[in-house]
Amino acid sequence: MNDLIRSLVEAFGPSGFEDAVRDLIRPLVEPYADEITVDALGNLIVRKKAVAGSPNPLKVMIAAHMDEIGVMVSHITEKGFLRFTNIGGVHSHTLLGGRVRFADGTIGVIGSDRIDDRSAIHPINKHFIDVGATSREDCPVKVGDAAHFYRPFVERGRHLTAKSMDDRIGCVVAIEALRRLAEPAPHDLYFVFSVQEEVGTRGAEAAANGLMPDVSIALDVTLTGDVPECRPMDVRLGAGPAIKVKDSGMIAHAGLVRLMRRRAEEAGIAYQLEVLDGGTTDARPMQLAGPGSVAGCISIPCRYVHSPSETVDAGDVEGAVQLLVALLQGEMDY
Ligand code: CO
Ligand code: ZN
Repeated sequence: MNDLIRSLVEAFGPSGFEDAVRDLIRPLVEPYADEITVDALGNLIVRKKAVAGSPNPLKVMIAAHMDEIGVMVSHITEKGFLRFTNIGGVHSHTLLGGRVRFADGTIGVIGSDRIDDRSAIHPINKHFIDVGATSREDCPVKVGDAAHFYRPFVERGRHLTAKSMDDRIGCVVAIEALRRLAEPAPHDLYFVFSVQEEVGTRGAEAAANGLMPDVSIALDVTLTGDVPECRPMDVRLGAGPAIKVKDSGMIAHAGLVRLMRRRAEEAGIAYQLEVLDGGTTDARPMQLAGPGSVAGCISIPCRYVHSPSETVDAGDVEGAVQLLVALLQGEMDY
């Protein structure tokens, strides 16, 4: 699975510019799909029909977002330095000395204006990107160009670190589950590789309003409470996938939470319960689409979310795949 993870997490895909990620995923899921569509926003929708004769097939939407946080050039100085704005939740204290990469491969280094007070954190607009240009004219990048943070994937034992585990690791879980669902499930499955989650779950909102699912499951990362001086939270790396109970945008359907727990226990999959103080996922717009749907989320615990070194545990990833497969293969008796 690590080769798949590497190729996805190193790909270029800030919100609104997910084409390269979609081009990587599409051939991987095509062999398992009954139908593939790309909607107007760019969501990749992979349908796997219910087994023939299934008495009461539910429409189940599974969403993992392809986009990642990044930056966009807003102004180029006369000397060829780039001022930029954020795409999604970029923390300005992760910027200085970082590197970004544009769609054409141009690499930039992030510098900051003079720092007089080292105890203060410069806001994003006091940073600039240096792509080696000397003037506006010879600058290879234009206003409106997007970049992502540039870091290679590393394996550190069971810990896997990359700049976009949020949420390429959710995409990996979806792809791997599709592969393992050899037999058609009793439900009509729609795997949606969504766009623009990091700027407000926009892709999943459009897709869910188009599909009107009965049951919705997001696959995304969540924070952990297992590093020094962090906000207390009962999720840690290596203790299994987390079944979301609540975040700041959604209360998961209580029956679906119970069903996920039961399926995990039956299959002997270690799991945790997640109450996230802040943030939300594609499960929120799916829950609220049309007349509403039964919604939940399987989370992959992740340290240093929205930094260039997002870190997950390989065992948690495997557990998330197993839990999703167990859930989709059985009856949805929530
Ligand atoms: Co995120
Ligand atoms: Zn995410």
